[in-house]
Amino acid sequence: MEKIKSLRGFRDIFGDEVIKFRRIEEVSRRYFSLFGYKEIIIPVLENTGLFIRSIGDTTDIVEKEMFTFRDTGGDSITLRPEATAGMVRAYLDTGIFARERISKLFSIGPMFRHERPQKGRYREFRQIDVEVFGIEAPIIDAEIIWMIFLILKSIGLTEYTIEINSVGCPECREDFKGLIVGYFEDKRQDLCEDCRRRLQRNPLRIFDCKNPVCIEISGSSPLLFDNLCETCKLHFKDFLSHIEEFKIPVSINKRLVRGLDYYTRTVFEVTSGSLGSQNAFLAGGRYDNLVQSMGGPSIPGIGFAIGVDRLALLMTPSMQKEGPIVFLAYLGDKAKGFIVPMIRLFTENNIKFFYLPDAKSLKSQMRYADSIGADIVMIIGDDEVEKGIITVRDMAQSNQTTLPLNLTNLIDNLKRLFEK
Ligand code: HAM
Repeated sequence: MEKIKSLRGFRDIFGDEVIKFRRIEEVSRRYFSLFGYKEIIIPVLENTGLFIRSIGDTTDIVEKEMFTFRDTGGDSITLRPEATAGMVRAYLDTGIFARERISKLFSIGPMFRHERPQKGRYREFRQIDVEVFGIEAPIIDAEIIWMIFLILKSIGLTEYTIEINSVGCPECREDFKGLIVGYFEDKRQDLCEDCRRRLQRNPLRIFDCKNPVCIEISGSSPLLFDNLCETCKLHFKDFLSHIEEFKIPVSINKRLVRGLDYYTRTVFEVTSGSLGSQNAFLAGGRYDNLVQSMGGPSIPGIGFAIGVDRLALLMTPSMQKEGPIVFLAYLGDKAKGFIVPMIRLFTENNIKFFYLPDAKSLKSQMRYADSIGADIVMIIGDDEVEKGIITVRDMAQSNQTTLPLNLTNLIDNLKRLFEK
């Protein structure tokens, strides 16, 4: 019988990839708790109107990429292509907005976009979404970037760029639109069909076009960044000065635009060259008018989403785990007596510790240690017990040394050895 396959762009996540996903989630949760974020679980299905109104009806997501259906009652429903719209709806529906002056929320789960699948681009993908409601001051923009920086550092990622920009407010955008419509109008015939339409309905979307000719044309156009109103300019300047206080390396990309219409002022993307064309593995920005445009009071917002599938692509095996794994290889009856004290010692000190009960030979234990990715192997045989030493093997460096077989100082001695 013919096998039934998964849908195009939908994947099973297993093996090492699951470990990477869990690690990203674990580290993120740790920092969310430190920075005062609370979890909220929101639906995967929402009314289609929610996304049209928030993301914008001229965006690629709404025009081409939504999984939209009619349910049996005839209502149009959509599998969420992103989380911010649902987060804002939930923030209003649950009444959180009326109870808290500032809300820091996060949510984790799958998103759905009907895009052409390729490396790092799927039709079902996972996001860790973070939103802050109620702060207009740009210090929060910088605090968010700082949290992102710490999360990536804790995962062990070093090769990436944090790109920042400001897309202004409706007032500066309105003035700017006049300026660029003039610029693009002359070159109208050369623009792609979509951009000709965009020129009429939402000219700023031209900057988001992937067509090489449109990219070239917009390459020499005036920039919104250079035409911000005084208030937006000041907001960005303050944001930047806080970024400098935090000492976070960032790069200003005046051409950075986002594929969603709700953004105002600060926008950012974290990119990596090794991802190819889908190079952003994290993105976000400020949306000061979204809550109000969704029927709520005027409350500013800012947030971001980690593209978990893409971030996992950047992780090497050593980034999958937290802290070193210690394996105890033992031989002989005298050595056996050290197993329980060692289990106690390592687990009490929060160090992952493994051993192989009933092992027959040192060789089989070493093979096992290798298979579980042990970083340090400690060897105790009768010989070691007699001499009062323990052999310590650094698996990555393939070298070994000895330490005194003294459990009171063993952890400190080990740390000293590996800090060198
Ligand atoms: P976004 O830029 O559309 O922003 O998506 C955020 C991240 O999700 C991207 O940088 C990427 O890593 C990942 N992503 C997007 N599409 C796909 C796909 N088809 N396959 C794999 N990964 C993908 C948002 O979604 C905003 N809601 C972020 C935000 C939160 N802004 C404010 N708050």
